[in-house]
Amino acid sequence: MNPKSLAITALKPAVLATAIATAISGFALPVQAQTAPSPVQLVDALNGVFGSHAGARGSHAKGFCVAGQFEASSGATAITRANMFQADKRTPLIGRFSVGGGNPKAPDNAKSVRGIALRITDGSERLEWIFVSAPHFFAQTPEQFVDFLKVRAPDPATGKMNPEAITAFSKANPATTKQGAYLASQPVPASYASVPYWSTNAFVATNASGKAQAIRWRFEPVAGRLGLTDDEAKTKGADFLRSELTERLAKGAVAFNVIAQLAQPGDQLTDPTEPWPADRAEINMGRLVINQITDQACDRETFLPTVLPAGLAPSADPVLAARGGAYAVSLGRRLQ
Ligand code: HEM
Repeated sequence: MNPKSLAITALKPAVLATAIATAISGFALPVQAQTAPSPVQLVDALNGVFGSHAGARGSHAKGFCVAGQFEASSGATAITRANMFQADKRTPLIGRFSVGGGNPKAPDNAKSVRGIALRITDGSERLEWIFVSAPHFFAQTPEQFVDFLKVRAPDPATGKMNPEAITAFSKANPATTKQGAYLASQPVPASYASVPYWSTNAFVATNASGKAQAIRWRFEPVAGRLGLTDDEAKTKGADFLRSELTERLAKGAVAFNVIAQLAQPGDQLTDPTEPWPADRAEINMGRLVINQITDQACDRETFLPTVLPAGLAPSADPVLAARGGAYAVSLGRRLQ
């Protein structure tokens, strides 16, 4: 089954979860070892830390939906033949901004990760982008994703985490500390529209001549990177991001430049905790324009990072391959 052809909203939750997991497994099977955690185990690991919240996503539970369009730049066809990247093409999008973690009441004024999820489609081809506001993901593999969460799950007897076990895990798995260290080094974002977002996973773009190029994506806010001081963050409180964006949109659309960072031969494509060197060439592929908050309009859907048009393909990153199945399970649970 082609994931692009799924009529997401027309299917019943359980059928939908199975259908998407089946569609995604076409990507997942070649790179996942027998012992890789199942989609259910991945979502259980999230629920083990954050609990299960009716109707909420297993991760990035707090958020709201938006709409706008993607405007391709004239240089994008150098690396991809996808129609939506043809020079100056405009394609409608829906999306969602979120705060990381599975807590639907997560504070907006903490130094945690922010998320953006987008579906760009003109009805004939479809691209989904699901990024976070850090250049590092927190796990190198699906196994490490589960272990990272399991060690943080509160003890059922005491309801408390075990700080010694977390310290020992971090020491044994230093790659899992990079995202937290990056976020701690940054201010609390002043707006969803003033923070960059990264794919962390690598993808492979192919142009009209058939030339393949490994890339990573970044959205760079046109408003600039704007943060809050610690005092400002305290004053803003736990729920300012939505009203901030409402006020910002009343003055005009918000935008991001869509940047493709080009891998050099030999750059690793399978570790989302480790960015490529900053000196790699970049291409401005276009602009995301978001002009409307659509409340919970995307809450009966899921965004899947392996839904790609011809001209873009997933890399062999096992974290990327594992995501679709887990998102489908989370969708199935929250629609029940
Ligand atoms: C093994 C790796 C991962 C697992 C198991 C995982 C799991 C999940 C799950 C279960 C959800 C909820 C999906 C839903 O209910 O629709 C979710 C949402 C999300 N994830 Fe992941 N994730 C992984 C990796 C990543 C990576 C690498 C990124 C970005 C760099 C990312 C960014 C997000 C964002 C932004 C959302 C919110 C999507 C929305 O607003 O609908 N995740 N993730």
